Amino acid sequence: MNDVILKIRDLRVEFPDLVRNVQAVRGCDLELSSGEILGLIGESGCGKSVTALSCLGLVPAPGQVRGSIIVDGEEIIGASRQSLSKLRGGKVAMIFQNPGKALNPFFTIGRQMTDVICIHRTSSRSEARQVAVDALQSVRLPDPQVVLSKYPHQLSGGQLQRVMVAMAISCEPLILIADEPTTALDVTIQGQIIVLIRDLAQSRGLTVLFITHDQGVVASLCDRVIVMYAGRIVETGSPGDLFRRPAHPYTQKLVQTAPRLGRGKEDLEAIPGQVPDMRAPPEGCAFHPRCTYANELCRKVSPRTVTLGDNHTVACHLAQEHA
Ligand SMILES: Nc1ncnc2c1ncn2[C@@H]1O[C@H](COP(=O)(O)OP(=O)(O)OP(=O)(O)O)[C@@H](O)[C@H]1O
Ligand code: SF4
Ligand SMILES: [Mg+2]
Repeated sequence: MNDVILKIRDLRVEFPDLVRNVQAVRGCDLELSSGEILGLIGESGCGKSVTALSCLGLVPAPGQVRGSIIVDGEEIIGASRQSLSKLRGGKVAMIFQNPGKALNPFFTIGRQMTDVICIHRTSSRSEARQVAVDALQSVRLPDPQVVLSKYPHQLSGGQLQRVMVAMAISCEPLILIADEPTTALDVTIQGQIIVLIRDLAQSRGLTVLFITHDQGVVASLCDRVIVMYAGRIVETGSPGDLFRRPAHPYTQKLVQTAPRLGRGKEDLEAIPGQVPDMRAPPEGCAFHPRCTYANELCRKVSPRTVTLGDNHTVACHLAQEHA
């Protein structure tokens, strides 16, 4: 792996609430190397999407973001509106679960793609159209000219997600953030989009942050995986380390649910106990109310992150014993 292209330090995101703030992200450190495909997994509400949105300066008001996020040498937190809009779609592009919602129903695909390309790459409309055609070809959509003339409702979910990927790569971003890009698609199309992202990452040296609930996808696509729980990173490692030798009791539970390609969120939610209320996350280790190994220390003191081996880290007081 090469240079660090994204460096997050002590990221904290809170949303003001009536009595207590929602602590969506509670001190995350994360690094993404150039060309790496990093998977981000964890139960619903653990802070995956908020972490991703933070990297684009897109956390909705009145969310408060603190810490440091450096993209290709540039600090994002506190950056001006102008530099953030240059960053989005330029250095960092994002695709979402529901491509239909990300597109404007009243404009053709061509208009929307060329608008984005004109912001980041060229002021010439005809050049932008050619860039759009090339991008649609590289996501293997037949008849790009026809696709450009369509409105979003005239395309299938799988075609729309390919358009979103094409739009994302058309401005040659350094980083592609994909937030559950296949969840809304049927299984065959899911597989095709995964292969497409993997091929694009390899052929273009694209760096990818891939958020998913599907461990099968992570195992087949990612170089490294991060597991989040209650706004914190609890374990990182290669898919082999994480799925064959999980050290954190939470990761062990995730792995026991053994989701396969194409199976969704319900697998992760089979873990006994409740996902914590992020207005008042448990003290100490946030997983302690659901952990069979929890002791007095776990209930009081938040565990430090320790390194177990090559790129394998875990935040658990009993890490060595569980490794
Ligand atoms: N705009 C918002 N206002 C208030 N709270 C929010 C907002 N967005 C997210 N949250 C809260 O922040 C926490 C983290 O949410 P996030 O969307 O990052 O979860 P997630 O891990 O992406 O979950 P999922 O797997 O369901 O997509 C949750 O408790 C959520 O309710
Ligand atoms: S720190 Fe304690 S409660 Fe948390 S996962 Fe480890 S053993 Fe369980
Ligand atoms: Mg999410």
